[in-house]
Amino acid sequence: MSNLLLKLHEVTKSFKGLDAPVLRNINLEILNGDNVAITGVSGTGKSTLLHIMAGLEKPDDGYLEINSTKVDYSNQAKLSQIRNNYYGFIYQFHHLLPDFSAIENVLMPLVIRTNKENGFYNKGLKLLSDLGLENRINHLPHELSGGERQRVAIARALITDPSIILADEPTGNLDYKNANMVFDMFLEFATHLKTAIILVTHAEDHAKKMKKIYRLSEGKITS
Ligand SMILES: Nc1ncnc2c1ncn2[C@@H]1O[C@H](COP(=O)(O)OP(=O)(O)OP(=O)(O)O)[C@@H](O)[C@H]1O
Ligand SMILES: [Mg+2]
Repeated sequence: MSNLLLKLHEVTKSFKGLDAPVLRNINLEILNGDNVAITGVSGTGKSTLLHIMAGLEKPDDGYLEINSTKVDYSNQAKLSQIRNNYYGFIYQFHHLLPDFSAIENVLMPLVIRTNKENGFYNKGLKLLSDLGLENRINHLPHELSGGERQRVAIARALITDPSIILADEPTGNLDYKNANMVFDMFLEFATHLKTAIILVTHAEDHAKKMKKIYRLSEGKITS
């Protein structure tokens, strides 16, 4: 199996109303177990870059390869399937489903992937317990603290054993102490599972814990 998980080739993206393209001829390769931070000031296109890597947004020019196969945006069903098999997502705001308990939220990606509801409970329970949430599994998101919600979101991202986790400011809405605690847990788990991480962050000390740091500015990436 190739070591290359994901490749962007000469990717360009513009939005209406902006003078210059947000991304200009971006080339980027993500390898197995890679550990990459993307930093840059607000509005430089970090989230846009992440969405393109996930196949959620189509570049104007250039292409995305996942597992050495060029992404075909006309086949959304296949793209969703690839996304579900390959990626885990963590956002700044947890995006947990409000009417489902912590464990149900964690198991949801597996239920979607396999169309089965049973057989995964112990896996979800183990992940939540390892993240220190064994007494919170049946709580609804609104009954959890901000840090606990983000830990549930981390468990949900890891439950499918993804090759890559895309994390957009995963601790951005937490206080400093909680943010460090949750981030360190996330890093430890992802490293243990050999999951590649692409982390968008404003937190320099989190970026420094990654193997590579890329800076996005004026549509270009520098390392
Ligand atoms: N769907 C869209 N339509 C029009 N403009 C957009 C769209 N998405 C993003 N933009 C614009 O593209 C630029 C980059 O946005 P993006 O969200 O990628 O920045 P960012 O680096 O993630 O910023 P932040 O750090 O604030 O999250 C911004 O100027 C934004 O307004
Ligand atoms: Mg953003």
